[in-house]
Amino acid sequence: MSANLRFQRAALAALPFALGACSWFTDFKQQPSVGPWQVFNADSAETKGFRGNPVTSVSTNGTLMPPWVVSYGQLPNVIDSMSTLANPVPADAASLLRGRKYFQINCAPCHGRAGKGDGTATKLGMVPMPLVSDRAKNFADGYIWGMIRNGRGLMPSYNRIEEMDRWDVVNYIRAVQGKIDGVVADTTPAGLPGETGDKLPGYTRIGPNRNAVYAHPTVTATPKAAEGAALTKTEGHPQ
Ligand code: HEC
Repeated sequence: MSANLRFQRAALAALPFALGACSWFTDFKQQPSVGPWQVFNADSAETKGFRGNPVTSVSTNGTLMPPWVVSYGQLPNVIDSMSTLANPVPADAASLLRGRKYFQINCAPCHGRAGKGDGTATKLGMVPMPLVSDRAKNFADGYIWGMIRNGRGLMPSYNRIEEMDRWDVVNYIRAVQGKIDGVVADTTPAGLPGETGDKLPGYTRIGPNRNAVYAHPTVTATPKAAEGAALTKTEGHPQ
């Protein structure tokens, strides 16, 4: 067989794949169609939105505080420069619930669910840092927002929490501090490890804009791992 003929046969064998036999690659192929000027609402079943932008893609909504205005330096004066930012998010029930979920996922491991500075990580050597101290109560909303953006000293940056969602965390901390009239913060766990669906903060402005499908894991023991008790759970795997 000549080299040319062999090449032709190989090309023929590959043809079905080239013609789209790879139906398992559905990414980007099957997408909702939205016409120009069509009213579009990510929350509506009829005009359900696109899957959202990949993580770290450039924001299409602009940004409150671009890195070239205030650096990501973890210094108190850098964070202080964000103190004057006004909190644009009203502390309503929806904001407090989102804030509670973000707080419990990202902050409670160190600061504790009730902000008393007694999170699990403090048992492993992390410096206890209460958020219900008079000092923390007197921080401006913008300072706490900047603290989440940059981190400070021993605290790493949590800027993976998107800008607008950070205000939900700020609102929730204000509720935990007792600074919102008539609101007693709910500091009980919003969900257990491995739970998804409405137990998670949900879609964001620039992240994926559809909720994860709800899956309830079978938890057969209360989470006492930190105290050395055996923790058995199936994390959503079929039994
Ligand atoms: C890994 C542990 C850890 C996590 C997680 C963490 N922090 Fe902190 N946080 C600290 C430490 C330690 C300090 C003290 C920082 C310093 O000055 O060295 C601190 C300080 C703070 C302060 C300033 C308190 C003060 O009195 O100066 C705020 C506000 C704060 N954290 C909010 C948050 C929020 C909101 C989250 C979640 C998005 C969070 N932290 C997550 C460890 C953590």
